[in-house]
Amino acid sequence: MADGKPIIFSGIQPTGAKHLGNFIGAIRQYVTGQDRGDPAIFCVVDLHSISVPYDPEDLRERVLDTAAILLAAGLDPERCIFFRQADVREHTEMTWYLSAVTSHGDLDRMTQFKEKTGSARELASSALFYYPVLMAADVLVYRGQEVPVGEDQRQHVELMREIARRFNARFGETLVVPELVLPKVGARIMDLQEPERKMSTTGGTPQGTVLVLDDEKAIRKKVGSAVTDSGREVRAAPDKPGVTNLIDILAVARGTGREEIEREFDGVGYGDFKAAVADGVVELLAPVRERYEEIRPDEAALEATLAAGAEKARAIASVTVADVRERMGFG
Ligand code: TRP
Repeated sequence: MADGKPIIFSGIQPTGAKHLGNFIGAIRQYVTGQDRGDPAIFCVVDLHSISVPYDPEDLRERVLDTAAILLAAGLDPERCIFFRQADVREHTEMTWYLSAVTSHGDLDRMTQFKEKTGSARELASSALFYYPVLMAADVLVYRGQEVPVGEDQRQHVELMREIARRFNARFGETLVVPELVLPKVGARIMDLQEPERKMSTTGGTPQGTVLVLDDEKAIRKKVGSAVTDSGREVRAAPDKPGVTNLIDILAVARGTGREEIEREFDGVGYGDFKAAVADGVVELLAPVRERYEEIRPDEAALEATLAAGAEKARAIASVTVADVRERMGFG
């Protein structure tokens, strides 16, 4: 922090195929973040994955898939710290220390846990209940200051802020209280078939979800069959969620704003407009898919990259853990 730039920290789940919403809302933000963070720290959060039933061999593969996508999208391990969460044991250790200042009631209020478990609460793993404490440890162990995540993670970030404050109040000034950073553009890329809901591999429609690794044909098919709205103007409006979503996607792909897109497609039919959106998405994702196909097969190189990242991460995390242990009266 010598030059006063904030430490950025974010984590991405290894499970679930990555889609256009993840790409625009998270992955691209990481790539921008690495150029100004000091340092920017990104991690594939495999420890979080054990909170739901999973297969160990599959988890290992999915971590490598996710790592390869992030590298293909432009994360540069020379300019950021990029690693696998489980490689840095300080995350697990820090989680336990932070549990001293996290109440059962705090966790009981987390809406994501309630939504995910519904009536099956009794059967949910305690890891799922405990998930927000691990997430707090992820950030606090680096004294991260900015946490770029989606709106759905707001409550978890609020809790980590509270945990940091309580720790400092109880044991003395030790941890940094981080800030939530919402993406400026493309925070809400919606499902192409059901534009009232967010694009998602768990809650959305397969046909309405463009995957980062979809080939050109699949992208054209999905964008071409996107639902539009009644009327025929290419104009963003609350009663035109389908068209608004397509405008936002094209605006992001081209790096412009809604107004420019509306102006360019004034008087143009939905068919031609959708073709332009498909072109934009293909141009955005095709280079990522091509690089992914080069990177993913070389597992030894991927593992080496993650191991080097973990070493850099540990150098920071171990200092915080030592301070925390000292404050808490251990050793
Ligand atoms: N819970 C986050 C999500 O589902 C992932 C995550 C885990 C995370 N640890 C984090 C995000 C720390 C930011 C910071 O998207």
